[in-house]
Amino acid sequence: MNNTGNVHAGILGTGHSYPEGILTNADLEKMVETSDDWITTRTGIKQRRKAAPGEYTSLFAVRAARQAIERARIDPLEIDLVLCATVTPDQILPSTACIIQAELGANKAAAMDIVAACSGFLYGLTLADSMIRTGQSRYVLVIGAEILTQYVDYTDRGTCVLFGDGAGAAVLGPVEGNQGILAARIRSDGRYLEQLYSPGGGTRKPPSAETLAAGEHFFKMKGNELFKVAVRSMSEISNEVLDDAGLRAEDVKLFIPHQANQRITDAVASKLNVEQERVYSNISMHGNTSSASIPIALDECVESGKIAKGDLLLMASFGGGVTWGGVLVRW
Ligand code: ACO
Repeated sequence: MNNTGNVHAGILGTGHSYPEGILTNADLEKMVETSDDWITTRTGIKQRRKAAPGEYTSLFAVRAARQAIERARIDPLEIDLVLCATVTPDQILPSTACIIQAELGANKAAAMDIVAACSGFLYGLTLADSMIRTGQSRYVLVIGAEILTQYVDYTDRGTCVLFGDGAGAAVLGPVEGNQGILAARIRSDGRYLEQLYSPGGGTRKPPSAETLAAGEHFFKMKGNELFKVAVRSMSEISNEVLDDAGLRAEDVKLFIPHQANQRITDAVASKLNVEQERVYSNISMHGNTSSASIPIALDECVESGKIAKGDLLLMASFGGGVTWGGVLVRW
């Protein structure tokens, strides 16, 4: 499709899926030295979903994607591009996006993964927006899917209380008029890579009995340093996308931040002057599901009728890398 200059990428359908297994704060109290009170007051999390042995990332990604495709009322053969944001792929090769593409029968689509941690879904929306506006693609499927609990060290109380599993998806396609993605920005700063990373298991430190025994495939995190970067980056990029679109925080009907920590959400919302009623949070139920967090939250908002046609939706994220992004959508 040619870019007429008036074409935006709209979100046509959304979906989400997560494992049945639940890991509560009470369960964690039995595993590490922590308490429901500490986790609740420091993070807002009460429970998170945890995949069972044998459950893998694309399983939930495909379920979320099918729902999004059905709601967008398109055929999988109409999809031109499948983008799967994940830091926990089914396997190193091929991409999880290719596995999903085959499962869906999206036989005319290109497919690739995006590795941008918790910002992956907004990276995907930004790429989809460009592909659709330039006419390279008509329909793009963007998925965020993670089984983080397989990379969590359940002896490290600083990380194991935070992360959960799940997947969310959105189908994007061309819309006309003042609708769809109005502004999108993505950024990174690799100088902060050690704030959240897994040191072993790649080519720098190939997987071996030693790396496994040392737990080097698990996520290591400097939580309180990341906290500051998160608040700064999400509030700055939110203001930037609002400026790009010539809009203000008071125009926003609903703010969906990456669900990392309730205190991070509260701090960003307060910097933006967006009061609690306009901020969506599901952190108590899901914890941090990285790239899946925003699309799960988005679909929950769609299902519960929190977003209506014409509403202005602001999404912002930050994640390991570090990466961050902001996307502003007129629904
Ligand atoms: N239970 C009890 N005590 C704990 C726990 C726990 N689960 N975890 C840490 N503590 C202790 C620490 O050991 C420390 O004790 P000390 O004072 O005796 O040394 C104390 O609590 C305070 O530790 P901090 O790390 O300073 O606590 P903080 O208030 O910063 O909260 C947290 C930690 C929740 C990790 C917070 O920093 C945070 O949420 N940071 C952002 C992390 C994040 O969002 N990461 C994901 C990035 S997104 C992605 O890409 C996946």
